[in-house]
Amino acid sequence: MTEVLVRSRLVPNIHLIRLRAPGIARACRPGQFIMVMADPESERIPLSVADWDADEGSVTAVFQIVGTSTRKLSGLAAGDRLHACAGPLGRPSEIGAFGTVLLVAGCYGLAALHPAARELRRQGNRLILLADVKSRPLLYWEDRYRRFCDRIVLASRDPGAAFQTYASEAVAAVAAEEGRLDRVMVSGCAYLLAAVSEATRPLGIPTVVSLNPIMVDGTGMCGACRCSVGGSTRFACVDGPDFDGHQVDWPELFRRRAAYLEEEVRSLCRFEKESLP
Ligand SMILES: Cc1cc2nc3c(=O)[nH]c(=O)nc-3n(C[C@H](O)[C@H](O)[C@H](O)COP(=O)(O)OP(=O)(O)OC[C@H]3O[C@@H](n4cnc5c(N)ncnc54)[C@H](O)[C@@H]3O)c2cc1C
Ligand code: FES
Repeated sequence: MTEVLVRSRLVPNIHLIRLRAPGIARACRPGQFIMVMADPESERIPLSVADWDADEGSVTAVFQIVGTSTRKLSGLAAGDRLHACAGPLGRPSEIGAFGTVLLVAGCYGLAALHPAARELRRQGNRLILLADVKSRPLLYWEDRYRRFCDRIVLASRDPGAAFQTYASEAVAAVAAEEGRLDRVMVSGCAYLLAAVSEATRPLGIPTVVSLNPIMVDGTGMCGACRCSVGGSTRFACVDGPDFDGHQVDWPELFRRRAAYLEEEVRSLCRFEKESLP
C-alpha cells in the first residue's frame, strides 16, 4: 500500500498525485515511469514520473482522466492509499550537452518532460518548450518551465495564439526561427508523437519520443507493450519508453493501443453504474 500525500486538479481533466515512495524517489531518473494500481480490482497503469523529492521520500505523477483507472485515481485524497506502486521502471532518457533542444509536450507530457528539462538545463543546453494545448487556460506548470527554458512557445487553437495550430505543424517554423535544432524530445498522446516525428523527419532532426503502448507488468515479461522500432521487436517497458520517433512503426502502435477499446468502454460504464448507450 502506498500513501497518497497530495491529489489535486491542475487544469480540467489533468490531475497531480504525490505519493510516499522513498525507494523510488532515491533511484528515479528523467524519463522513467511507475506502475500504479488504485485498488485491488484496478488494472496496473504506467505513469511517467514528473518529479521526485528524495529528502521527503515522495514521487509526483500527473495524469489525464481517460478511463476507469485514471478516474479512480482522480477520486483519491491525501491520506488515502494506493493498492500498489512499483518503480522506477524503464530506461532513463539519454541526457547530454546536445546544444539546442526542443521539447514538444501535450496533455500529461508537459509533466513527463519536466525532469528531462531540469537535467538538460543543468547540462547547459538551450531549451525551447513547444506546448500543445487546446486552449491557453489548459497550460499548466508554465512557471516551472520558465526556470529552465529559454523560450516557451504555445501551439493552441485559441484565436491570437502565436501558433494557432497543432505543435506538429509549428515545429518547422520553430526550427527555422532557431536556425538549428540539435534534438527534439516529445511526450504526450500517441498522435502528437507520430505527427511530430513526421514533421522532423524531412528536417533531419533527431527525435526522441516517449512511447506509450499498453503495458501490463512493466517489467518485460508479458509482451503487452511490444512495438516495432527500426524493424526490430522491442518492449517499451524495458527497452524504452524513449525511442527514435523516425524508426517507430506507428500504424502498429495505434492498432495495438486500440486493442481493448470495447472493454475499456464497458469498464467505465460499469464503474459509473451506467449501461452502454
Ligand atoms: C510509459 C508510459 C507512461 C505514461 N505516462 C502517463 C502519464 O504520466 N500520465 C498519464 O495521464 N498517462 C500516462 N500514460 C498513459 C496511461 O497509462 C493511460 O492513459 C492509462 O493507462 C489509461 O487507463 P484508464 O483505465 O484510465 O483508461 P482506459 O479506458 O483503460 O484506456 C484509455 C486508453 O489508454 C491507453 N491505455 C489503457 N490501459 C493502458 C495501460 N495499461 N498502459 C498504457 N496505456 C493504456 C489505451 O490506449 C486506451 O485506449 C503513460 C503510458 C505509458 C506507456
Ligand atoms: S508491459 Fe509487459 S512486457 Fe512491457
